Amino acid sequence: MGVKIVAMGSYIPENILTNADLEKIVETSDSWIVERTGIRERHIASPEDATSDLAYRAAVKALQKAELEPEQIDVILVATACPDYLFPATACIVQAHLGAKRSACFDIEAACPGFIYALEIARGLLSIPNYRNILVIGAETLSRITDYTDRNTCVLFGDGAGAAVVTKDNSDSDILSSYLKGNGEVHKLLMLPAGGSRKPASFETVRDRDHYLKMQGREVFKHAVNGMQDAAQKVLERAGFRSEDIDWLVPHQANIRIIEATREKLGIQPNKVYVNIDRMGNTSAASIPIALSEMEDKGLLKRGQLVLIVSFGAGFIYGAMLLRW
Ligand code: ACO
Repeated sequence: MGVKIVAMGSYIPENILTNADLEKIVETSDSWIVERTGIRERHIASPEDATSDLAYRAAVKALQKAELEPEQIDVILVATACPDYLFPATACIVQAHLGAKRSACFDIEAACPGFIYALEIARGLLSIPNYRNILVIGAETLSRITDYTDRNTCVLFGDGAGAAVVTKDNSDSDILSSYLKGNGEVHKLLMLPAGGSRKPASFETVRDRDHYLKMQGREVFKHAVNGMQDAAQKVLERAGFRSEDIDWLVPHQANIRIIEATREKLGIQPNKVYVNIDRMGNTSAASIPIALSEMEDKGLLKRGQLVLIVSFGAGFIYGAMLLRW
């Protein structure tokens, strides 16, 4: 059985938050943000939009490209750390908007590597006869859980969504190898402390700003570089390729210095790395599908190319996949 990524789509909110805008909100500077992160601007969802709205628009584009009707979708998977609600799943709201009446739908909370985790789940589901077409979406409205009084985090994050239509046929698979890993020992380094069962919403949690993302940036940085290198090497080994065989490295867009350090450790040429962090910031689970969708629209991805996607995020968790485009 061959698992195929037949179409990609993305949705980027129009509203832009620049470094100059942030200079007016917290004590920071354009030069600090660009030098330490590579980010110049990020997109922010309209107040009336939730994660499902962004996900829906990305899904519509992917379905149009795949020339599929919503009724032909068997499963909708939404990878997100910013669901519309704690429950029901954001995927159910996307299903309702699309009118994808036949589909099963559920969310995957796997932070930034969520899209890679969702692709792996889709691959597993496609081995079951009942399923043929799966919509895999990474969508985030991180601006809703970002503390715009905390300069350590508020410069990093943006909103957006990317979607892939994944299907199966009798040809070779587009997914050559994959690797997923977790390290829950350090889960407190990056988290949203309140609103779940550990710390339900209360006067104190609101007062203490515990409904916003908290991060120990320097520690995250170290884990990110090591984890991304490890995951990337594992998928290369598993598929029998070397880093010089890669046509494109599409890393999670968290920080240009993390991307650069990972690229260097892997020994991949700079012109083979796709970077859009300057325009998008960190869009978590949406980052890789947005990048792939942009690359496809720009004609950068050619049939047969080897594409290495790799990501890390809160948990900590890591993931990589080697794709034959
Ligand atoms: N503007 C100006 N100064 C700042 C800012 C800012 N926006 N943010 C922090 N600083 C200051 C700090 O207060 C500190 O000052 P001090 O030395 O007086 O204490 C100084 O800059 C250095 O701070 P560091 O945190 O050591 O800076 P660092 O070089 O590590 O960069 C950064 C910080 C950009 C957050 C970096 O650590 C990083 O990118 N980490 C990884 C973040 C990441 O990728 N997170 C993924 C989350 S994905 C997910 O799962 C949702």
